Amino acid sequence: MVLLVGGTGPLGGRIARELLSRGVKVRALCRAGSGHAMLRRMGAEIVMGDLKDRASLSSACAGADIVITTANSVRRGGDDTVEAVDVNGTRALIDSAREAGVDRFVYTSVWGASMESPIALVRAKAESEAHLKASGLTWTVLAPNAFMESWPGVVVGAPAVAGREVVIVGEGRRRHAFVAEHDVAQFAVAAVTNDAARDRHLAIGGPDAVTWLDVVRTYEEALSRPIPVRHVAPGEAVPGVPPEVLPLLAAYDTFDSDFDTRALATEFGIASTPLAAWVRASVATMRSRVPRV
Ligand SMILES: NC(=O)c1ccc[n+]([C@@H]2O[C@H](COP(=O)([O-])OP(=O)(O)OC[C@H]3O[C@@H](n4cnc5c(N)ncnc54)[C@H](OP(=O)(O)O)[C@@H]3O)[C@@H](O)[C@H]2O)c1
Repeated sequence: MVLLVGGTGPLGGRIARELLSRGVKVRALCRAGSGHAMLRRMGAEIVMGDLKDRASLSSACAGADIVITTANSVRRGGDDTVEAVDVNGTRALIDSAREAGVDRFVYTSVWGASMESPIALVRAKAESEAHLKASGLTWTVLAPNAFMESWPGVVVGAPAVAGREVVIVGEGRRRHAFVAEHDVAQFAVAAVTNDAARDRHLAIGGPDAVTWLDVVRTYEEALSRPIPVRHVAPGEAVPGVPPEVLPLLAAYDTFDSDFDTRALATEFGIASTPLAAWVRASVATMRSRVPRV
């Protein structure tokens, strides 16, 4: 049985669906007040808990063979801070899993996690990776690059489909191998079902390393029209991007993440989603949601 923490988020929800459809039993640790009806409908067992409540983690881990966490504090606020959730909460979950005799722990980090990062969340990811690797548990670290849904879809897709200008931080010439959430979920399934994922750090990117300007061109092709673009300085507001993730967006203008994960995808039998295919599907979905008058 897999204990899943973060199942009410988009990536966690996909992982739950993929595992349940393969007949894997899933127990989802959810917080009071989170929308877990869909998880229950899909067949997951729901247990109440919180990464800030150590006792709830111990009881949730009891009887689990594998723990997967996709949880993070981004966009939560209040007492769900990076320190409380991403550092202390993840540490408590790893320790609870070890004490409960869990066989394997799958941690969702981020590509390039480092204690030297200026971003607190990215430092917390590095700290959690280190704690897990030293825990004695069999581990898999999923280290995905930026998701297509969270970045191209929000920064370019949403305004472009709505006919508004797109705001790009900096020159938009850095190259990033954006990855589809679907592909990350496939790697999470592999971490559960494929022994080749044991004690592995999986750097997961998409098949194409593209600049923000390439992303705009890809949407122009999908929409068959030009998209106006405005450039702003790092840290300036970008429509649709919550203020708490602006530092992450600004950071993407300071480095390239153009690593090649084709060999890894082939090893795990995963067909990586190209950006153009993802954009076409996403545009079709967004258009279908626009009310016709
Ligand atoms: N988006 C990207 O581009 C990107 C790139 C690389 C890595 N990642 C990583 O991928 C993972 C999944 O992302 P996502 O977009 O699915 O996440 P998300 O939408 O931010 O969802 C966060 C999940 O964490 C849970 N959570 C937050 N605080 C919690 C707490 N105190 N106790 C228990 N659960 C708590 C939330 O539960 P509630 O619903 O109850 O709040 C929710 O299920 C994250 O770890 C993220 O850092 C994302």
